[in-house]
Amino acid sequence: MLTLWFAVAIGAVVTVALLYVVFRFRAKGDEKHVPEQIQGNHTLEVIWTVIPILILAIVAVPTVKTAFSTQAPEAGDNVIVVKAVGHQWWFEFQYPGDKVTTANEMYIPTGKQVRLYLHSNDVIHSFWVPRLAGKVDMIPGRENVMLLEASEEGVFFGQCAEFCGSSHARMRFRVVAVSPEKYDEWIKTRQAGVAEPTDAKAVAGKAVFEGKANCWACHSIDGSQKAKGTAGPNLSNIGARTTIAAGVLENTDEHLRQWIRNPQAIKPDAKMPPHGTGQISDEEMDALIAYLRSLNK
Ligand code: CUA
Repeated sequence: MLTLWFAVAIGAVVTVALLYVVFRFRAKGDEKHVPEQIQGNHTLEVIWTVIPILILAIVAVPTVKTAFSTQAPEAGDNVIVVKAVGHQWWFEFQYPGDKVTTANEMYIPTGKQVRLYLHSNDVIHSFWVPRLAGKVDMIPGRENVMLLEASEEGVFFGQCAEFCGSSHARMRFRVVAVSPEKYDEWIKTRQAGVAEPTDAKAVAGKAVFEGKANCWACHSIDGSQKAKGTAGPNLSNIGARTTIAAGVLENTDEHLRQWIRNPQAIKPDAKMPPHGTGQISDEEMDALIAYLRSLNK
């Protein structure tokens, strides 16, 4: 804003001076009259050299300060750090300080600066939450930094903004901004890990997850001895997420069923293999969904 006001002032002075010259020295039917001609004026030249130098020096102070503050890598009391990784076609969110990993729904506390480290696992993606910040590319082998802050609680939609393959348009996410208290609670719940299912159907579903359906090979569940896969999203809180398939479908039992049966029908070229009735029966699918529902912290 400081730069803007300097620019406005300079623009105003120049415009007024130009208009004055145009009207004051226009030809007034007396073509032969030539105004007094001058050549060189040390005083004027010193003035129009020194004033811009002063203005640039003043503008440089906040500019340089801001440039450094946006690049500072350390977290503090009012800064949280999140590592966001783009995958074809979903977003992974790691909270390194708290050892928490989630996908497609990023929780942040209101009123705190979120320092995002952007990475990619495969091709170039772009991280974009229009209501919170501009877009920044996620580039393989590189780390980009972006800052965002939500002043109010709410759910903010995000979308990959760099063409990254057939399901680029279906690579969405949500930023869930909650009060710092609720955020701490969310982190603590996630850190507590996942409770063993007690419901008979969910127990059977866990066996399908860790057996026939092979979910464990690509997905991890916090605290699980078996499910440690990293190819797909961490599913520790899948039952609590509002959407599945990277923000494409509401998280309902019916959508989970459609997604697990045939992901490619929902997201072209999705990396998750289809699970037909030859692999898991309808009954096993119901149990599997009951188990996923139980992962709801
Ligand atoms: Cu990722 Cu487009």
